[in-house]
Amino acid sequence: MTAELAKGIHWVGYVDWVVRDFHGYNTHRGATYNAYLVQDAKTALIDTVKGPYAGTLLKQVAELTDPAKVDYVVCNHGEPDHSSALPAVMAAMPNATLLCSKKALDSLGAYYDMSGWKVQVVGTGDSVSLGSRTLAFLETPMVHWPDSMMTYVPEEKLLFSMDGFGQHIASTGRFDDENPLPMLLEEARIYYANIVTPYSGKVAETLKAAAGLDIAMIAPSHGVIWRSHLGDILKAYRNWSEGKLKKKVLVVFDTMWGSTAKMGEAIIEGVASVPGVEAKLIAIRSSDLTAVATEMLEAAGIAFGSSTLNRDMLPMAAAAMSYARGLRFTGRAAFAFGSYGWGTGGPEAIDKAFAECKWEVVRGPVKSKFNPDAKVLDECCAAGRELALRALELAEASGYEPLVID
Ligand code: FEO
Repeated sequence: MTAELAKGIHWVGYVDWVVRDFHGYNTHRGATYNAYLVQDAKTALIDTVKGPYAGTLLKQVAELTDPAKVDYVVCNHGEPDHSSALPAVMAAMPNATLLCSKKALDSLGAYYDMSGWKVQVVGTGDSVSLGSRTLAFLETPMVHWPDSMMTYVPEEKLLFSMDGFGQHIASTGRFDDENPLPMLLEEARIYYANIVTPYSGKVAETLKAAAGLDIAMIAPSHGVIWRSHLGDILKAYRNWSEGKLKKKVLVVFDTMWGSTAKMGEAIIEGVASVPGVEAKLIAIRSSDLTAVATEMLEAAGIAFGSSTLNRDMLPMAAAAMSYARGLRFTGRAAFAFGSYGWGTGGPEAIDKAFAECKWEVVRGPVKSKFNPDAKVLDECCAAGRELALRALELAEASGYEPLVID
């Protein structure tokens, strides 16, 4: 079912209620792939959807206009969740010119046979008139791929923001004011942590570039359209893109026979002894990597633990560390902890990995041979307190702006 953003501008995307795995991201509320039709003297389709859902998109376009009369198809980003319907769309819209960035020619050309498509490369500063409305293009490399751009309609103060400001939510409400705001911001936080974090520097640059635009509505390629809570999502993006941190310590671990779990609980006690610091403990195998990354996004301190297996950390701890390293949650205070038995190496492997994460190591690993005794647990508690005190300093220096969900 289509939804109207402004006169002659409709959402024509697809709501994916059942997807739970988006290249490893746990989309526990499903997802949407948003596409928009702008009808004026000329008509433009802004982005497409995943290939299997091309039929739904085309049916919705056909309810509004004859697809053969569409003049432009804008591809803001070549990733297949937005572009894999392009072959079907371009076939159904033979008179349309595809508008995309120069870089998108590389990604689209690698995925699809573009022979027979009319293509016009556009970039920052270029615009196309549809009659009474304009499509103005703003290249936003690395938000989320090098080929990415956003499309702005100045007459409507409307920004089609591609992956930026998205959330993975399946909902019948297309707009932010048709959904509970805390849920939206939480999903935006999960999305930012798992998709956008590595490109935070570019997001900050994009926010500065977009600050010169008069924006009343942000229509991303995933999730709801922001029209009533722009201040909330923009504040959140300032926090996240500038790496601002909360007074929060995350204790994350995997355990073999429960020794490392006991250490984690003692560390949490130490963290909780520092007033004003939020403490959170996650057992990786009782959770998932999507949740671990989300908790890391704003945590100023991270205690990372694992038992020793084969002179290394446990496999799921290694997966979480690899994921965190790739997402580039830089600038956290941290220490390693964990148990060992006949062989050593788990906590040491974590400690070594901190350098690649660019985390500040507040102390050497806290280790326990087999089951932690009272002395080890006291050391864990003291280490938790030390980490919390340093996290407090980092958070206060970062200038985090509280969100309505904090
Ligand atoms: Fe939603 Fe980068 O694709």
